[in-house]
Amino acid sequence: MSIRVIVGAQWGDEGKGKIVDVLAKEAQHVIRYQGGANAGHTLKFDDKEVVLHLIPSGIFSSSGTCIIGNGVVVDPIALQEEIKTVEAMGVEVKDRLFISDAAHVILPYHKVLDKVKETQRGKYAIGTTGRGIGPAYVSKVSRVGLRMGDLLYPEFTKAKIREVVDEMNPSLETLYQSERLDPEAIIAQVEDAVEAIKPYIRNTTHFLHKALRRQESMLLEGAQGSMLDVDHGTYPFVTSSSPTSGGACTGSGVPPTALTHVMGITKAYCTRVGNGPFPSEEDNETGEALRKAGHEFGATTGRPRRCGWLDLVALRYAVELNGMNELALTKLDVLDGFETIKVCTAYRLDGKEIDFVPLRADDLSRVEPLYQEFTGWKGQTTRNVTQWDELPESAQTYVNWIEEQLGIWFTFVSTGPKREETIRRFSK
Ligand code: IMP
Repeated sequence: MSIRVIVGAQWGDEGKGKIVDVLAKEAQHVIRYQGGANAGHTLKFDDKEVVLHLIPSGIFSSSGTCIIGNGVVVDPIALQEEIKTVEAMGVEVKDRLFISDAAHVILPYHKVLDKVKETQRGKYAIGTTGRGIGPAYVSKVSRVGLRMGDLLYPEFTKAKIREVVDEMNPSLETLYQSERLDPEAIIAQVEDAVEAIKPYIRNTTHFLHKALRRQESMLLEGAQGSMLDVDHGTYPFVTSSSPTSGGACTGSGVPPTALTHVMGITKAYCTRVGNGPFPSEEDNETGEALRKAGHEFGATTGRPRRCGWLDLVALRYAVELNGMNELALTKLDVLDGFETIKVCTAYRLDGKEIDFVPLRADDLSRVEPLYQEFTGWKGQTTRNVTQWDELPESAQTYVNWIEEQLGIWFTFVSTGPKREETIRRFSK
């Protein structure tokens, strides 16, 4: 029985959706544990492309259950749309998708707040996705949030929305010079979506505990990435949840002692969307070439992603922080056209070489990246390769070197967006 957590080892967009899609076949339950519709997991199979924001990526490849855990913040309107999209692709959602009754609800006022707060931050803007994520987690920790289980009680839900909006209106007007919100309009706006998702709500923690007793296998699917973790990332340029492996437990009810594998997903280079420090960023032609080759545009917002070389300092931090014991390398094929490939192996801060990630964003934005160079495999291709031995020799050298530096193996190497474009190594 494996209880495996899939964690982004960088700033999100590492290609977790594809790896979950491949591994979900082997799991009886696939569970999302944090974040919300800010995530965008792109899946390509059978000449179809679909982007999931809330439903676990396992919905297409596994026959088991897909769970939206208590740590997720759920936008009912976005979820209703997504259920329709998946069903239109001929996939059964009923009796397979369960939403935790303890997951918090994102309401339209969270999105309004997300936008007005971001505007007010001016040059310190985080570059949020505008999906209401931060304000929804604020409601949660300040204990005024509405949970999915509350939606089963319409009168309670309406009273809560009226109470929160009444409390919020004065600050919207005075602090943010924004329009007052009408609670009745908000109630009307979410009514249909709430009705549509009600049948999926249940106590998923109890469900998962029973599944653990029966020794059933699970895949816990993280969104975003370790460097965007609210505690361990590049604060304040982070998301408002815990994408790291600890968050998998608090966000699902699966205890830490049950976890058997923690798999980190990393691209063969680095990207970041939104603002904040990014030491190995190439804000130049190289970055542009990576963006073009890797189609690096946000799956949720369409924003161009910032691109740069692999940052081994940040990757080692993610490995240690999450207790990763497996890695998956994605988008190796994007490096196919490069003469030379660089990897950031250390930083220089105030004249001193350091091998760790400074936790103050100001410090991290001042570091100078120090690089090791590798000869690329230009003229040869890794695209579509499914056997390790068929990779160009210098691609093997690049991957082996990263493994040696980190002391763990890449059990997957992804060589294209499709399910089949994957090399599987060392484990079943
Ligand atoms: P929020 O999660 O919308 O509050 O955005 C906070 C930061 O996290 C911003 O820099 C976003 O661009 C980034 N972010 C949020 N979700 C994702 C994701 O799924 N992939 C990459 N970056 C993300």
